[in-house]
Amino acid sequence: MPAFYKVWAWKALLSVKKRILMTPQPRPVVYVGQDAALQLCATIAQFAHKNVLVVTDKPLLQLGVLSGILETLQKHGVTTTIYDGVLPDPTVKVVDDGIAMLRQNRCDSVLACGGGSSIDAAKVIALAGANGLSAQECVGLKVAKLPGVPLYAVPTTAGTGSEVTLAAVISDNVTHEKLIVADPRIIPTAAALDPGIMRGLPPHITAATGMDALTHAIESYINTWDTDECLHYGRAATRLILNNLPQACANGQDLAAREAMALASYYAGLAFTTCLVGYVHAVSHQLGRLYGVPHGLGNAMVLPHVLELLKDDAKTRLAELAVDNGLGVAAEGEPALAKKLIDRIWALNAEIGIPRTTDVILEKDIDGIVDGALKEGSGYPVPRFIEREECVALVRNLRS
Ligand SMILES: NC(=O)c1ccc[n+]([C@@H]2O[C@H](COP(=O)([O-])OP(=O)(O)OC[C@H]3O[C@@H](n4cnc5c(N)ncnc54)[C@H](O)[C@@H]3O)[C@@H](O)[C@H]2O)c1
Ligand SMILES: [Fe+2]
Repeated sequence: MPAFYKVWAWKALLSVKKRILMTPQPRPVVYVGQDAALQLCATIAQFAHKNVLVVTDKPLLQLGVLSGILETLQKHGVTTTIYDGVLPDPTVKVVDDGIAMLRQNRCDSVLACGGGSSIDAAKVIALAGANGLSAQECVGLKVAKLPGVPLYAVPTTAGTGSEVTLAAVISDNVTHEKLIVADPRIIPTAAALDPGIMRGLPPHITAATGMDALTHAIESYINTWDTDECLHYGRAATRLILNNLPQACANGQDLAAREAMALASYYAGLAFTTCLVGYVHAVSHQLGRLYGVPHGLGNAMVLPHVLELLKDDAKTRLAELAVDNGLGVAAEGEPALAKKLIDRIWALNAEIGIPRTTDVILEKDIDGIVDGALKEGSGYPVPRFIEREECVALVRNLRS
């Protein structure tokens, strides 16, 4: 197909997507603060659910992170069935096992307790369960007929914002290619941003997931579908993360920093659920698919590289964020301010232990990484579609 047809086809597809995503979306009721998760348990009981499927992973269960939640639900007379089979970047098989458990136990609601992997798995379990579908059959934009069974979420990482987004990311069993389920009806009914639940999150996961949230805030902020709401939440999230992520990493017991990060992740979720992400995610997803690089770590490493590449195209927005964060004043001019913001992100990464480069990328894989990243990037309202050679250079710069 000639290149101009491809560009036309991408633009047409993007405009359909835009129309759907820009329609006002539901928002979860959100409880914020220490023990917010227990308040959410009371809400689940108030909605008269009798048997809730708790979707989580084994490490969280073993660490006892869920103990208070399970006890409180029991106290309120709600029976729990636990599905702890979620693994990072959950596959279709992981989600199908959860769907089977929901059906076998006739659960009437789903409570996701975990990071983005558990919340995303739970979203698809709830949707597929109500529609008699498999996980694979839910993939795509608004493909299910009925709403899912009622869904609640307690994020245990501050990163993905999945508790408020209309997307769930699952992966192919064999290729580990990311598959997106996008539907406003998978947005949870209610969620709890509970800093106490996050106090045991190790520093390296705090750092990586926090940088995922910053990536959501900045990628949506510089995108071309920049609604007022997206800009508003993107600015708030960026400010909260730059001011609190180092402290949340240095002292996980600092509940004020944890709460600020949980809110930042939620705000960034509100920003990107309509305005989407960009080349950072497009490249990072390839590192996850091929080498199992955790989502947040991949984004954290790729973010400054992509911003260096797009700094002229996105200079106005990057400069706004720089001024907003006290890194300079408007009189310095947009290019200088954009550079200051990018330098601040390099410095933040260094402070929280995110490497500048990675040794996992093999020379033989570079073509495939670039193909995957360009294909995914073409589905986002990025500041500019990048050329293949630029993407190759970016991936090479990422290699140590
Ligand atoms: N739906 C969306 O809008 C959206 C957005 C971004 C990312 N994602 C997806 O989310 C997934 C990544 O989620 P994530 O980064 O939150 O990581 P994760 O859910 O994969 O969890 C990472 C690890 O952290 C551990 N962990 C989580 N909370 C903990 C706690 N409080 N204490 C101790 N350990 C804890 C988990 O056991 C796990 O081993 C990816 O699959 C990604 O594609 C989804
Ligand atoms: Fe992300």
